[in-house]
Amino acid sequence: MKIRGTDHVAVAVRSLEDRLGIWEVLMGVKPSPVEELPERGVRAARFEPPGGTAVELVAPLGRNSPLSGFLESRGEGIHHLCFEVEDIDGAVGELKARGFELVQERPVAGARGTRIVFLHPKSCGGVLVELMEPGRARDQG
Ligand code: CO
Repeated sequence: MKIRGTDHVAVAVRSLEDRLGIWEVLMGVKPSPVEELPERGVRAARFEPPGGTAVELVAPLGRNSPLSGFLESRGEGIHHLCFEVEDIDGAVGELKARGFELVQERPVAGARGTRIVFLHPKSCGGVLVELMEPGRARDQG
């Protein structure tokens, strides 16, 4: 599998509005506009420092958000790590062949036109890992 780098570290929060302020101070940049991803049951905002890895705050959206269970059992904190890959379909095929368990059967739409897939923490030493292939718009310039 070929990764380009770490795209973001995601932090689970109960309320974006309650936590954006402290992360703006920590990161020294303004957050992106809040994006709602109903199919994943999350609202997200992203801090992109000039160099290095972004931090994404994710909060539950709707009653059946998969994030609600995480917040109930683990509380707020680091939720997942996202690696950018060149070829997400190739990566999924390779990881499945090596016995990794995936949360989704195949890549799904992520924020900002990306394609993403999550690897089960069972397969990654307790860490929820997201793989992301950038959207076409970004590839084109
Ligand atoms: Co993510």
